[in-house]
Amino acid sequence: MGNPARHRLPVRHGNHDVHRQPLDAHRVRRSQGGRTHFDVKIRVLGSAAGGGFPQWNCNCRNCAGIRAGTFHGSVRTQSSIAVTGSNTASVLVNASPDILAQLQKTPDLQPNRSIRDTAIAAIVLVDGQIDHTTGLFMLRESVRPWPIWCTDSTYADLTLGNPILSVLGHYCGVDRRRIELDDEFTVDSVDDVRWRALPVASKPAPYSPHRESPVSGDNLALVISEEISGRTAVYAPGLAAIDDRLWEAMRCASCVLVDGTFWTDDEMIRLGISRKHARDIGHLPQSGTDGMLEWLDRLPAKTRKILIHINNTNPILDESSAEAAELRLHDVEVARDGMEIFL
Ligand code: MLT
Ligand code: MN
Ligand code: ZN
Repeated sequence: MGNPARHRLPVRHGNHDVHRQPLDAHRVRRSQGGRTHFDVKIRVLGSAAGGGFPQWNCNCRNCAGIRAGTFHGSVRTQSSIAVTGSNTASVLVNASPDILAQLQKTPDLQPNRSIRDTAIAAIVLVDGQIDHTTGLFMLRESVRPWPIWCTDSTYADLTLGNPILSVLGHYCGVDRRRIELDDEFTVDSVDDVRWRALPVASKPAPYSPHRESPVSGDNLALVISEEISGRTAVYAPGLAAIDDRLWEAMRCASCVLVDGTFWTDDEMIRLGISRKHARDIGHLPQSGTDGMLEWLDRLPAKTRKILIHINNTNPILDESSAEAAELRLHDVEVARDGMEIFL
């Protein structure tokens, strides 16, 4: 390995320079077609669904067990990932209510180049749900308006149903960027990463102006590509069904990070927590006919398969459970907070 300093090319990011050398020097640098790049890094900031694990008011077997210290599994914060390209700048995908704790555990996202600093160049939202957007309030001290990428329907949810973006206008402000379905986009300063948003069948938030008549763009799967190698990851923390376009993207991906909310369709009903099925609230269960496991089994053997956005009731959180053993047999991983995936 040569001296990494030789590869430093200043890139403008906000009002300060960032460098092509990532902060975590162990990342792999590759050369392809005469260009040098670092593997794109996806860091799981939070792997739990809304409520987190344990959930504050929940006494299900999992939540009670982890509080009692008798549980074979880990605490998890709410749903978010950070994506870093060939420089220090990163994209925050979803801003969870746990964002401050997540950032405290991720020093790479808090470089110290000026009195107020962040490596987060922009925020991409897959929907307008509470667990993916409440953290925006915690990021109000930003020294510049946040570039926030979202679809028109999510923008409507966040300016009408739950007007977080309007409120942020009284603090740092919002530099709204429109996600057009199926169109590729790139995020300023986050080099070598390309993004594509696919609409997925799920549900907008309860406060959405169109909760009962979902529209295309309420919920997204993101296809995240490393520009030079073309390797992709599909990130879809909420999906009720897999259509042809999403399936094609999943088949071509080197890694899929997909909805791991519930093991069974009636999980919450059986526990007496809710009257709704998983599919009713926009989540494809893992088990059963046409469940997520059946789909994942059909992917190429080399595809890395990871469940993410896991609800605290899901038995897969218990590493000694029969369901967790079944996942291992199917070569399916369960995302953990702090997990890093390289493309
Ligand atoms: C969901 O994924 O269904 C929602 O985020 C649930 C919630 O946060 O209340
Ligand atoms: Mn959610
Ligand atoms: Zn619970």
